[in-house]
Amino acid sequence: MANYRFFLDYLAHRLSAKTRHGVHSPFVYQLVDEVIYDFSPKPYEEEIERKRQALQKDMRIIKVTDYGAGSMMNNGKQKAVGTIAKNALKPKRVAQLIARLANRFTPATIIELGTCLGITTAYLAKAAPKASVITVEGCPETSAVARQTLDELGAPHITLKTGNFDNILPELIQQQEKIDFLFLDGNHRKEATLNYFYLCLPKVHAQSLLIFDDIYWSKGMKEAWQEIKNHPQVTLTIDLFFIGLVFFKKGQEKEHFKIRY
Ligand SMILES: C[S@@+](CC[C@H](N)C(=O)[O-])C[C@H]1O[C@@H](n2cnc3c(N)ncnc32)[C@H](O)[C@@H]1O
Repeated sequence: MANYRFFLDYLAHRLSAKTRHGVHSPFVYQLVDEVIYDFSPKPYEEEIERKRQALQKDMRIIKVTDYGAGSMMNNGKQKAVGTIAKNALKPKRVAQLIARLANRFTPATIIELGTCLGITTAYLAKAAPKASVITVEGCPETSAVARQTLDELGAPHITLKTGNFDNILPELIQQQEKIDFLFLDGNHRKEATLNYFYLCLPKVHAQSLLIFDDIYWSKGMKEAWQEIKNHPQVTLTIDLFFIGLVFFKKGQEKEHFKIRY
């Protein structure tokens, strides 16, 4: 039933979403044209995708500690790394888009909530090599595999914190002077998502970008996305169906876009 609803939401999005044509905001038009639809190969992509393939074949069994809403595919306690790599990671197309966004906005700091095996983390670190990347993973054994992934991909400078977002995020945000770029990819529950959003708000600025994953995943996530869009500090959102982009740009009318991706 949940899958059926998701599919209907996807169809509705495809029908109502725009491509770059029909977008009248110069900022959004440029972003769609130069970043969202920029499918030209990037130097870091091949190596990371090779690592993803290797992880998909990885037969090691690890004990999974799940602090999140789980996923539609993964619910057991003991799992093969390969099963996690096949089911829990952002597909190449979305991971590469997130990397292009990090490259475009050159954030000084990137925070990722939901490291899993480290694939999107590697993308973020390679696409924005000057950024300081902090990533958080709740499951200790998953986090250990991510550490290996990142070391092997030559991204050892990444700060990987292991623990529940609920415990780590308040202090982590307090330590930041500002939040430039945050990717939330874990604990897809309405209350948790909103809680993390509200924790970020005091530190966002006119150039901040918050990316929310799976905004159509459940009724609760759809409600969370609506509440985020309606928040007075939010001035611009771009709904790409699988992810939602949230901007806080100053001096512009509040606008919401649905873009086909
Ligand atoms: C969808 S996966 C992340 C995938 C990763 N970003 C990628 O595409 O390469 C979500 C991860 O978030 C972690 N997670 C979920 N809820 C959490 C919580 N409350 N605290 C810490 N980690 C959590 C899960 O253990 C899982 O590994």
